[in-house]
Amino acid sequence: MPFPVTRPRRLRRTPALRRLVAEHRLAVDDLVAPIFVRDGISEAQPIAALPGVVQHTVTSAVEEVAGLAALGICAVMLFGVPESSRKDAEGSAAWDPDGVVPVTLQRLRDRFGGNMVLMADLCLDEYTDHGHCGVVDARGAVDNDATLERYALVARTLAAAGTDVVAPSGMMDGQVRAIRSALDGHGFADVAILAYAAKYASALYGPFRDAVDVALAEGQDRRGYQMDPANLHEALVEVALDVAEGADMVMVKPALTYLDVIRAVRESVAVPVAAFQVSGEYAMVRAGADRGWIDGDAVAMEQTLAIKRAGADVVITYFAAEIARALGA
Ligand code: PBG
Repeated sequence: MPFPVTRPRRLRRTPALRRLVAEHRLAVDDLVAPIFVRDGISEAQPIAALPGVVQHTVTSAVEEVAGLAALGICAVMLFGVPESSRKDAEGSAAWDPDGVVPVTLQRLRDRFGGNMVLMADLCLDEYTDHGHCGVVDARGAVDNDATLERYALVARTLAAAGTDVVAPSGMMDGQVRAIRSALDGHGFADVAILAYAAKYASALYGPFRDAVDVALAEGQDRRGYQMDPANLHEALVEVALDVAEGADMVMVKPALTYLDVIRAVRESVAVPVAAFQVSGEYAMVRAGADRGWIDGDAVAMEQTLAIKRAGADVVITYFAAEIARALGA
């Protein structure tokens, strides 16, 4: 029997050989760190289900971003938590120019100029008293088109505060078009849209809802607007619509359970593709690591690399700082 000529192990023998032939690598440039800012608190608060992640004050958020910048991270995504007394049926605190997200955006813009990409999640669920991502009609169903009018107001508020990117996450039909025209019509043609194009109705958002104090009423869910985890081709419909409506980047979310979707989306569009490694994905790794069952840092690196290998150009991850530290070492 002739021995095979190609022996793949030859190229795995030393660290230098492995580096030379690595097909994908993690880079700090591709990471986006989520940041929670909460109104009405005087110091940062821990989030039980997201160990290591906190709800920030404006001041502590700016310090956190300075620390991320020192690690080489060049993008953050802001999520706001209003005072609970400010929540209403419409989510009107979301377009308050004095709200915690616009104020934080201004502070970050002043401090970091063009050295930090500022992204802001654009949704209503943190701001509505019922917890849905849009306004609801008399029967309690989310009213798509009435919601778009509110998203336009939020987009203008975030843009005026200095965001580089708005990231609509509500999965309303036509949201990218509505936001693009509101931005263009008010002098914000330079503000980019990262569309949560293929956002699935996932059980992995649980810890995030704790982080932003959102709870839906008993028996309610978001399956009427977020995607069915059973569907892949539908993600391509969503992505094509969002790009046609003016999305500058598109997102798949969650990430690890949807690597096939990331790959298919990467192959179907030319714009940058982002993937959001969500709160539940982070919490599971942290929980296993905290029990000593897995090496959390190693798993985080492996998972994030897998997300890139699947085709993501940009990864939004609660592990951003850990990964940046490991890459810098
Ligand atoms: C909606 C929004 C959600 C997340 C990001 N934007 C929650 C949801 O749709 O219920 C989830 C992020 C995460 O789990 O890390 N504003």
